[in-house]
Amino acid sequence: MKTYLILFYFLFLTFFTNAQNLNSPNNNLDLNFSIDQNGRATYSLNFHNQPVILNSGLGFILKDNVEWMRVDTLDMVNNFKVVNVSFTSIDEKWTPVWGEESEIRNNYNEMFVELIQAQSQRRVNIRFRLFDDSLGFRYEFPLQEKLGSFIVIDEKTEFAMTDNHKAMWIPGDYDTQEYNYTTSRLSEIEQKSIEFKEENVSMFRFSNWGVQTALMMKSDDGIYINIHEAALIEYSAMHLEFNPSNMTFESHLTPDAYGNMAYMNAPHNTPWRTVIVSDDARDILASRITYNLNEPSKIEDTSWIKPTKYMGVWWEMITGQSTWWYTNDLSSVRINETNYDELNPNDSHAANNKKVMRYIDFASEHGFDALLVEGWNIGWEDWFDKKKDYVFDFLTPYPDFDIDKLNKYAKDKGISLMMHHETSGAIRNYERHMDEAYSLMNKYGYKSVKSGYVGRIIPAGERHYGQYMVDHYIYAIEKAADYKIMVNAHEAVRPTGVGRTYPNHIGNESARGAEFRGSKLNHTTILPFTRLIGGPMDYTPGIFEMDPRKNRPDFTPNLNETLAPGSVTTTLANQLGLYVVMYSPLQMAADLPKNYMRFPDAFQFIKDVALDWDKSVYLEAEPGEYITIARKEKGTHNWFVGNSNGYNIRDAEIDFGFLDKNKKYTATIYRDAKDADYAKNPQSYKIEKISVTSKSKIKIRTVPAGGFAISILPN
Ligand code: NOJ
Ligand code: CA
Repeated sequence: MKTYLILFYFLFLTFFTNAQNLNSPNNNLDLNFSIDQNGRATYSLNFHNQPVILNSGLGFILKDNVEWMRVDTLDMVNNFKVVNVSFTSIDEKWTPVWGEESEIRNNYNEMFVELIQAQSQRRVNIRFRLFDDSLGFRYEFPLQEKLGSFIVIDEKTEFAMTDNHKAMWIPGDYDTQEYNYTTSRLSEIEQKSIEFKEENVSMFRFSNWGVQTALMMKSDDGIYINIHEAALIEYSAMHLEFNPSNMTFESHLTPDAYGNMAYMNAPHNTPWRTVIVSDDARDILASRITYNLNEPSKIEDTSWIKPTKYMGVWWEMITGQSTWWYTNDLSSVRINETNYDELNPNDSHAANNKKVMRYIDFASEHGFDALLVEGWNIGWEDWFDKKKDYVFDFLTPYPDFDIDKLNKYAKDKGISLMMHHETSGAIRNYERHMDEAYSLMNKYGYKSVKSGYVGRIIPAGERHYGQYMVDHYIYAIEKAADYKIMVNAHEAVRPTGVGRTYPNHIGNESARGAEFRGSKLNHTTILPFTRLIGGPMDYTPGIFEMDPRKNRPDFTPNLNETLAPGSVTTTLANQLGLYVVMYSPLQMAADLPKNYMRFPDAFQFIKDVALDWDKSVYLEAEPGEYITIARKEKGTHNWFVGNSNGYNIRDAEIDFGFLDKNKKYTATIYRDAKDADYAKNPQSYKIEKISVTSKSKIKIRTVPAGGFAISILPN
């Protein structure tokens, strides 16, 4: 009897400490933590008492990195006990340097679970934060005798789904996100991956069940679930691998050249794993969990960080009418040895004094802040896919680009030139030139840099999303901050809210942007639910001439061909809506000046639209179908509305209830005309001016891949 009592007592004790519960501040979400019969830490998540994530395992496989030649793997999955559990709550507001709103609320209940593994005595802690719209958790390895420096071989974080949800996903890949999204049931991921044939210059698809985050899902009973990560620092990016037999995703990290996933030095935390949940898709767009889980700004004086509207000597290269390179004389060049003065210029090098000055004039006349110039520096003749280490020096202009004169000319016209650093994936080369390159920018007055990581990474075997590169991207941003430079990185790892900590990190591509053309019709109704969960995208909207062949003076139409390959697959009105739908403090008017001159009344919206906001109101949203967002410009009473529409003709319904009750406004609506058609008649739009108040309601018809934009100014 006594033994039974003692046993009962211990069972009770174990039960008491090993199962824990946490509610979100308004009880929308509740989280259960427990240790299962194998001693594995598990969690589950409910939304309004309905399961969203079923019991899911946590843990790691590690490798000791301390003792030389020891290769034992360390199981950090089973045999854990709870040592301590503590709770805290936070409700605070903070002010971002730029953003969708000028004040962000950070309100969560936290549970901190300290674990120890029975025999090994190894310790790991898990910090759970439950917001009303989301869950975040991360692992924290405290400094301890048995775990100092170690290697993550595998992270075993699970997300067990309740059903065969609909998902919007791109294939799991260590090197690119520049893909169209597939919409399918979870059980169809493998088959659709096999059928998915898109290629990229740097790609490594690791599994046909693998997908990338942010992953957007919807259950049959209308629950929206989004899985991503926050604060990806000193770790590799997480993908997800689906196991159809138990409907469970497991974390799949990005390996290095040895196949190791991450190198840790205790005390060392992983990034946060995040799950946003709601029965209203608009809440997914409004969630601020990703920023809330990042550290506050490390940059004290942020006065030099400014939202930027820019044009570029760029689209003509992207569409094949001009070249980045200066000469066609050589098939290979050597930096510091090739004498460009002795070579014949081709007649298509775009970054030349005359042309750049013309672009500066145009950008200045229309009120832009900056002009990107690509192809200004030597090395482009053999820049790509040659595994060339010393590919650029980021310092030496081509003979026809007078860096001093052009910067002075730009400055006189109120424009700053935007620097371009294409690294071609040669990281050592970029890092060795970085100080000099940023100093050069300071010398001539460049305020921002567009960097790029096209192609395979050098050192060989490293991946765009591995820890080596994650460290590099942060290094580049930190260093840029020392020089008061803003960074917009292309082909870098997808953002995870680190723009809060480093607000000079104003842009990223890391997805399929406008430059790809030929995107699926609903592409920009998905991106805000996926790629933009982590931060702004340099999507480069504003394409008015969808068929790039028509930019050529010698173009003769083929009347049988309605949609030429390489065309942008939206209407012109949709392109305007993107300036509001695709939030970014950095926005480009990507098309050629001559195309803006053909449609000056539509161009007016791009000139007027704001870049920084006091408030955002998510009016309508369904991933893959439509998004309508209203935003109030920071510090003014001006509002801007944008819509992007997917595959079906649809009437958007706008309730102007977001406007100030005491004001009257004039709304200028830029919409698809009746006969607008993304393939046959994309430039058919209509502009209407109407008076509106907070009581107004209107309907606007949008065609497939159509949309609209509205500017609303107080009278
Ligand atoms: C890829 C970038 O996304 C694109 O914008 C750029 O022009 C090229 N790399 C060349 O750097
Ligand atoms: Ca790119």
